[in-house]
Amino acid sequence: MGRRPFIAGNWKLNLGPAEARAVASQLRDALGDPSPVTVAVFPTALSVSAVLQALDGAEVGVGVQEIASQPSGALTGANSAVMARSMGCTYCLVGHSERRQLWGETDEACADKVLAALSAGLLPILCVGETLDQRRAGQLEAVLMRQLEVGLSKLQPDQALSVTLAYEPVWAIGTGETATPEQAQEVHALLRGRLVERFGPGAEEVRIQYGGSVKPANASELLACPDIDGALVGGASLKADSFAAIVQAAQG
Ligand code: PGA
Repeated sequence: MGRRPFIAGNWKLNLGPAEARAVASQLRDALGDPSPVTVAVFPTALSVSAVLQALDGAEVGVGVQEIASQPSGALTGANSAVMARSMGCTYCLVGHSERRQLWGETDEACADKVLAALSAGLLPILCVGETLDQRRAGQLEAVLMRQLEVGLSKLQPDQALSVTLAYEPVWAIGTGETATPEQAQEVHALLRGRLVERFGPGAEEVRIQYGGSVKPANASELLACPDIDGALVGGASLKADSFAAIVQAAQG
């Protein structure tokens, strides 16, 4: 299978412009030569332009953490996919669990945002994941399939192939607790099966990242799983050396 590994750093609300510029330059030096891994960082929107400047010419994509479903208008505080694209962004996150939990983002809103991203020429990473309560209540499959089905419901099959999925169990985000490679692989295989059912065999090409306390010490064993095609990294992406070590782990 020819899926190119994809390592993404979600900086959340950390690293203002000066710090973000510094980390981006260090990352650029640490990654060096063209690599067989797709790499991207997601700074706060306030730091995007500093990071784009620092990475100019480097093989590291930049994305925004959030976009509105409309390109412009009376939407105080929102980011526009069209504007992000015109600045030089390539990617955006959609449906991160913090957005779902703290801002009440629904699966339906995610569907609109995924479509808005693709229409603007941004490549979305749709995040899905269950809470610990949902997992314990045996709802894992139902929750994930709903997030997947509804989140991608507005897309044509050819559009779906441009989406990356990120499986991030909510209980593993920022907690130091990681799904075991077996747990993660099982879910990734389930997600891939549903993607193929829904969008046809081409969906084998869709990359599925794992996220939730990924760090240099556990990246290799997670990334060795056949259906884990990369990682969405929070805390460990804030330092260039640990993020670069995860990129290296993806090189096999
Ligand atoms: P974490 O965050 O790596 O700090 O657990 C992952 C994420 O929220 O994307």
